[in-house]
Amino acid sequence: MEIIERPANKLNARKFIREQVKAIAKAVGDGSAITALSGGVDSSAVTLLGHKALGKKLTTCFIDNGLMRQDEPAAVAKRFEKLGIHVQVLDARDTFFKALKGIRDPEKKREAITQTFYKKVFGSLVKENGARFLLQGTILTDVEETVAGVKRQHNVLQQLGIDPQEAFGYAVIEPLLELRKDGVRKVAKALGLPKSVYQRMPFPGPALAARVVGAVTPENIELVRKATAIVEQELESVKKFQCMAILHEDQFTGLREGKREFGRQIEVRCWKSVDARTAKPVWPAPGVLKKLAKRMTEEIPGVVSVTYNIAPKPPSTMEAV
Ligand code: XMP
Repeated sequence: MEIIERPANKLNARKFIREQVKAIAKAVGDGSAITALSGGVDSSAVTLLGHKALGKKLTTCFIDNGLMRQDEPAAVAKRFEKLGIHVQVLDARDTFFKALKGIRDPEKKREAITQTFYKKVFGSLVKENGARFLLQGTILTDVEETVAGVKRQHNVLQQLGIDPQEAFGYAVIEPLLELRKDGVRKVAKALGLPKSVYQRMPFPGPALAARVVGAVTPENIELVRKATAIVEQELESVKKFQCMAILHEDQFTGLREGKREFGRQIEVRCWKSVDARTAKPVWPAPGVLKKLAKRMTEEIPGVVSVTYNIAPKPPSTMEAV
């Protein structure tokens, strides 16, 4: 079924919210639903729409897949508790790392994350809860990139011919399917979410696994997690759509304290974009780049090389995997 886009500049956010709340309530009926909150603007908006529509009939879960940023699970749960929404944090770290073990191919990594999320983790959660619906924040750009074969976005199912009811045992409701990121931000603001959420930088569903070239091991994730924290701190005041750190697989000969060190390389990316369909690199001041290099090589053991991406999307994509 073709999805008709609702562009942000023509979107009446309040009307959209009214329509979606009604639609969610109707679809779920007297059943119950679960929402997978990651803390990003899409899943946060869906969580609030769901709560408006379903109240206590909605369970909000944060799946800790071990691939999230520093302190993210606790911070997201705390933010939503403040909004009066209880978040159940589910520790699924081992399950995800086991599923990713030995996989190097980008699309296979994405597939492993999708299967683990929908089949294993959510499948059992839905069974335990007796819920029949999963509410999720898929947006139009996710669908387009997946269908075009650019990247299999973790949350696209129906448009790839996957019937979630048949494959996983529950139905999926996607209230944001006609919007792009700028439209979702408008809706999130109208829902009363704080600026830190509606302006929040996007973060991909496969999380830090989308930023590790080669094997996704707990060690590689920890390394890219540290690099991500540094990038986000140092580029905080730079105007951007998204910034990230990518861990390369190759080893590089470095020199530390007069001795050869065969170490790792971090690539920094910082993007200007409106809707993620195309993007251009931001050109940070040399002093900012210098500080990034200093902190990465001094604070992250084993890192001897730091590069900055200067290619636009296309032909690059924003994430590395
Ligand atoms: P790419 O790398 O495709 O990223 O240029 C475009 C935007 O989408 C985000 N992204 C994802 N978001 N699931 C998501 O929810 C995914 O699988 C996924 N892959 C990429 C990326 O962070 C960027 O904002």
